[in-house]
Amino acid sequence: MGKPFPLSSPAVLSLLLLLLLIPANGNTGQLSTYIVHVSPAHKPASSPTLRHWYRCTLRSLPRHLLRTPAPAPRLLYFYSRATTGFAARLSPAQAAALRSLPYILSVLPDRARQPHTTRSPTFLRLSPYSGLWPSSSFASDAVIAVLDTGIFPSRPSFLDSSLSPPPSSWRGSCDSGSGFNSSQACNRKLIGARFFYKGYESAMGHPIDESRESKSPLDTEGHGTHTASTAAGAAVEDAGFYQYARGEARGMATKARIAAYKICWAAGCFDSDILAAMDAAIDDGADVISLSVGATGFAPSFYRDSIAIGAFGAARHGVTVSCSAGNSGPGPYTAVNIAPWILTVGASTIDREFPADVILGDGTTYGGVSLYAGELLNSTDLPLVYAGDCGSRLCISGYLDSAKVAGKIVLCDRGANARVEKGSAVKLAGGAGMILANTAENGEELIADSHLIPATMVGESAGDKIRDYIKSQSSPTATVVFRGTVISSSPPAPKVAAFSSRGPNYRAPEILKPDVIAPGVNILAAWTGISSPTDLDIDPRRVLFNIISGTSMSCPHVSGIAALLHKTYPDWSPAAIKSALMTTAYNLDNSGEIIKDLSTGEESTPFVRGAGHVDPNKALDPGLIYDSQVEDYLAFLCAIGYSTQQIALFTRDETTVNCSAMTLASPGDLNYPAFSVVFSSTSDIVTFSRVVRNVGGPDDAVYEAEISGPPGVNVTVAPSKLVFDAVDQSLSYEITFASIADAAVAGSNGFGGISWSDGTHSVRSPIAVSWRQSFVASM
Ligand SMILES: *[C@@H]1O[C@H](CO)[C@@H](O)[C@H](O)[C@H]1NC(C)=O
Ligand SMILES: *[C@@H]1O[C@H](CO)[C@@H](O)[C@H](O)[C@H]1NC(C)=O
Ligand SMILES: *[C@@H]1O[C@H](CO)[C@@H](O)[C@H](O)[C@H]1NC(C)=O
Ligand SMILES: *[C@@H]1O[C@H](CO)[C@@H](O)[C@H](O)[C@H]1NC(C)=O
Repeated sequence: MGKPFPLSSPAVLSLLLLLLLIPANGNTGQLSTYIVHVSPAHKPASSPTLRHWYRCTLRSLPRHLLRTPAPAPRLLYFYSRATTGFAARLSPAQAAALRSLPYILSVLPDRARQPHTTRSPTFLRLSPYSGLWPSSSFASDAVIAVLDTGIFPSRPSFLDSSLSPPPSSWRGSCDSGSGFNSSQACNRKLIGARFFYKGYESAMGHPIDESRESKSPLDTEGHGTHTASTAAGAAVEDAGFYQYARGEARGMATKARIAAYKICWAAGCFDSDILAAMDAAIDDGADVISLSVGATGFAPSFYRDSIAIGAFGAARHGVTVSCSAGNSGPGPYTAVNIAPWILTVGASTIDREFPADVILGDGTTYGGVSLYAGELLNSTDLPLVYAGDCGSRLCISGYLDSAKVAGKIVLCDRGANARVEKGSAVKLAGGAGMILANTAENGEELIADSHLIPATMVGESAGDKIRDYIKSQSSPTATVVFRGTVISSSPPAPKVAAFSSRGPNYRAPEILKPDVIAPGVNILAAWTGISSPTDLDIDPRRVLFNIISGTSMSCPHVSGIAALLHKTYPDWSPAAIKSALMTTAYNLDNSGEIIKDLSTGEESTPFVRGAGHVDPNKALDPGLIYDSQVEDYLAFLCAIGYSTQQIALFTRDETTVNCSAMTLASPGDLNYPAFSVVFSSTSDIVTFSRVVRNVGGPDDAVYEAEISGPPGVNVTVAPSKLVFDAVDQSLSYEITFASIADAAVAGSNGFGGISWSDGTHSVRSPIAVSWRQSFVASM
C-alpha cells in the first residue's frame, strides 16, 4: 500500500470481501446486500407508510424467486433523509426483479469504502481573541457528525464541563454496546454515539467477531477518535506524542458537539452502513457531516456513488458534507468524493517538523523525519546495509535475512507494506535501526512515523545517494540523530502532500477538485486506548494522542471550520460556506512563493491545491458568495447528460426533472467558486455565467475584476465592474475563455485566477484550462 491509510492491513481484507460480494452467476440463492432507491411519490394509498410499502414490494416478488434455495429477502435499513429506499439482502434474481419495477430508481450492490491528525490551529491563525473563533463562540451548539471508526470516549478531548446542555434541536442518541456504556461515555461534548453494522455483518456472512472489534460505537482502531478530536476536540493542556509536538491540543470547533457514527469496521466501511449513518445524522440534527472515507480507485459515477447520493440528501437539508479527497496522489484524476455539493479536501503540511538526520560514515548528513520515541542507538557508527541486498528491498516481514541485518542499520524502500511495518520487520530480523527511503512515487514527501526501532525517513534523492554510498564502500556505516520538534518557516509551509489525491475531476472535468487543502501531514490528535499508535499488534504502546497523516486528517479540519462558519451565519447554505472557504483560501506559502507540490518540489496547480489553503478568519468575511441550491445541482446533472431516471435518484419525491427546461448551458455553468475549462480545440471559446451575492457590506460595494493568466487564453469578463446597491443583492457576470494557443498545447493544462476586489475583500477563484487531447471521462 505505502499510502498513509491508517487502516493499513484491513485494506487488503476488504479487497477479498469485494471479491466475495460479486454475485454468483444465475440464481444460486446466494444473498448479497443491495441498496434500493425508491421513488416515494409512487407509494399506493393502500400502504400506510413507506416502510410498509417496501415490505409489500419485497413480499410481492414473483413466487419462484422467493422459494428456496433463494431465501426470502431480508431488510437491513430504511432510508428517508440521505435518500429514500432501503437496503436488503437479495439474490441476484430478486435484485433484477426489483430493478424492473417502475418505481424503483436503482438497485446498487453494496460496496466497501476505506477510511482515507496540534499545531494546526496556530498555523491556521485561529485565535481566541479575534476572528472566527470568538465570532462563532467556538461553534458552541453546532453539531458535527463524524462518520468513522467510532470513538474512544473519556479522552480529555471529549470532556468539557463548561458546555451547556446539547442544543434543543438535537434528536440523536447515545447507544451502548459491548465495551461502550452510553451513560458513562456521552456528555455535553460527545452528545451522540451510534453504530451501523448491518451491511458489514451481512457482507462478512457472520456476526462481528467481538474478540477483534467492538459491536458498539467504541473506536478500537484510532482513526475516528483522531478525526473527531481534530474537528471539535476540547482544549487539552500539554498534549503530545511522547516528547513530540507537545503543547495545547485543540480541535477546530473547540466548543462544537461531537456525534460519532461508527461505520468503519476491520474490513472496511460499507455503503449501506454509510447511507444509514448519513440518514441518521441528518435526522438527528447534525449541522456538518465529516466523512474521511471514500472509494478506492477512480471516483464512481455520482448516481452509483452512495456518498454522493447521501451528501445530496444532506445538502437538501442544509447540512454541509466535508470529505477527504483520498490518498491516491500524485497521479491526475485520483480525487474521490468529487460531486459539486461535497466539500472536497486535500492534504498539506504545516510549519512543524520532526527532524531526524542520517549521518553517514563519511560525515555526509541527510535530513529525515521521525517520531521514534524509544531508546536511542547505542553507537554513533553502526554498519549500514541496503535491504535490497538482504532479501527484501521493501522490508517485508519474514523476508529479511537475519544473518545480513542483525545489529545493523537497514535502508528500506518505501512502498507496498505500511511504513511502520518495515521498521517492525527490521526489528524482528534483529536489525538495530532503519532508514526508510522514498522512491520516485513519493519524491520528497516525508511523513513522520512512530517507528518501533530507531528509524527515520528520507526523500528520494537522499535515498539514491545513500544507496550509492552503500555500494561504493567496503564497510558503510551510519547513525540516526533525532532532533525532536522544530517549528520553523524553513522548509516553507504549506506544501501539498504527494499522497493527496488530485484533479482533474474524473466525472465532471468542468468542476474543479479538490476544493481546498488543509493540514493533513503529521497531525496530533486523540487516539484510542484499545490499539497502539502504529496499529501493529507487536506494538504494546497505548497513547492519549497520536500523530498521523492523510486527507482523513485534513477533512475534519475543514469540517470544524465549516461548523464555525455555520454557527456564525446560520442562514448560509452548504454552498455558501464552501464559497467562503474557497474564495478566501490562500495560494502562497509562508515564504511568499506559490504553494509547492511535494511530489515534484515544483509549484502546485489548482488541480492539486484547489482554490488553495483554507484561511478560517478570512472566510468569516468573504465579501461575495457564489451560492447554489438543489435545483442548480439538478440542472448540473442534466448538463452532464444524466438520464431522467438517473436524476430521479437525487430528486426522489419531486416531479420528474425536465432537463430541456433547465437553464445550465454546460456543466461549467454551475455557480461554482472556481473555473475549470475544457477546450476541445486550440481556437475554442467557452463562456460561463456566475452570480455573486454581496454579503460583506457596505450596501454600495463596488467590485472590480482582475484576471491573471492562463497563458494561451484570452479571458474577458462582462461586466468587469459589479456595482451593488444593497447587502444580499445578487449580480451576475459572464466570463469568456478564448483559446489563442497553438497546436502544441494539445493535452496540456494552463492555470490562472480571477479576483473581484472592492479594496477590502479579494474574492478569488482559481482558473484551470485543459486542452483536450483524447481523454474522455466515461460518465
Ligand atoms: C453504565 O454506567 C452506569 C453509570 O455509571 C451504571 O450505573 C451502569 O450499571 C452501567 N451499565 C453497564 C451495563 O455496565
Ligand atoms: C543498547 O545497549 C543496551 C545495553 O548494552 C541494550 O540493553 C539495548 O537494547 C541497546 N539499545 C539498542 C537500541 O540497541
Ligand atoms: C420540457 O420543457 C420543454 C421546454 O420548456 C417543453 O417544451 C416540454 O414540453 C417539457 N416537457 C415535459 C414533458 O414537460
Ligand atoms: C481578447 O478578447 C477581446 C474581446 O473579445 C479582444 O478585443 C482582444 O483583441 C482579444 N485579445 C487577444 C490577444 O486576442
